[in-house]
Amino acid sequence: MSTLLLTGANRGLGLELCKQFLQSGWKVIATCRNPNNATRLSVLVDKYPEHLTVYALEVSNSDQIAELKTKIGEAPIDILFNNAGVYAGESNEFGSSNTEVWLDAFNINVISPMKMMETFVDNVAKGDMKIIASMSSKMGSINDNSSGGSYAYRSTKAALNSVMVCASYDLKPKGIAAIMLHPGWVRTDMGGPNGELSVEESATSMRETLTKATIRDTGKFFDIDGSIIPW
Ligand SMILES: NC(=O)c1ccc[n+]([C@@H]2O[C@H](COP(=O)([O-])OP(=O)(O)OC[C@H]3O[C@@H](n4cnc5c(N)ncnc54)[C@H](OP(=O)(O)O)[C@@H]3O)[C@@H](O)[C@H]2O)c1
Repeated sequence: MSTLLLTGANRGLGLELCKQFLQSGWKVIATCRNPNNATRLSVLVDKYPEHLTVYALEVSNSDQIAELKTKIGEAPIDILFNNAGVYAGESNEFGSSNTEVWLDAFNINVISPMKMMETFVDNVAKGDMKIIASMSSKMGSINDNSSGGSYAYRSTKAALNSVMVCASYDLKPKGIAAIMLHPGWVRTDMGGPNGELSVEESATSMRETLTKATIRDTGKFFDIDGSIIPW
């Protein structure tokens, strides 16, 4: 049975990805900040008690990442998906940059995926698929930026892309592919009600990209239709 390790699984795209991977027979190790308040994840645990395990994880807390590693041990992981992320709305406009908010966002959007990769690389190396994916955003593409604004969000996603490209080189000898995904503009708490895609549509397309990915795709930044996004 294939295994997915997923962050930010309690709502939005993470919750839907969790649901869809379970529906297709995967085992999911789902993490979220407050499992006790994650009612929609609890419903899935009741439905898939053998396949879904939920652990508490504030992704910016390295001690909690280390604790998670002791719980998971040496179990193989086919896909590690760094999904959790923040928009950092209070530090996105010119004239209102906020150091604390921006650094928090940097921790969550950039350093946490790195720590997750460093901590679980051996588990992924033991998996059959050997995929590490991070949820990026087209807003992190410098080439695609034609409107400015969103300073903290754009810069942290651009930095995440840089981290993933570095990892694509460093992890290639282990046969591990490091890829980035743009989920489209999706109707979640972050994407808002005007997003172009439902969580179901976005997660379905991302699942296809994730499960088809191989080492030949390492270092690629995938759009929701499977095409490549320029940096
Ligand atoms: N929606 C879009 O249109 C869109 C477009 C491009 C990229 N993305 C990316 O897609 C990913 C998921 O976004 P979404 O739209 O599903 O957003 P969302 O509905 O706001 O969900 C964000 C998820 O990240 C978790 N999270 C945030 N900070 C965390 C932390 N410090 N530790 C652990 N978990 C944390 C949240 O947990 P809590 O419930 O505990 O806050 C929640 O589960 C993000 O990386 C986002 O940047 C989204």
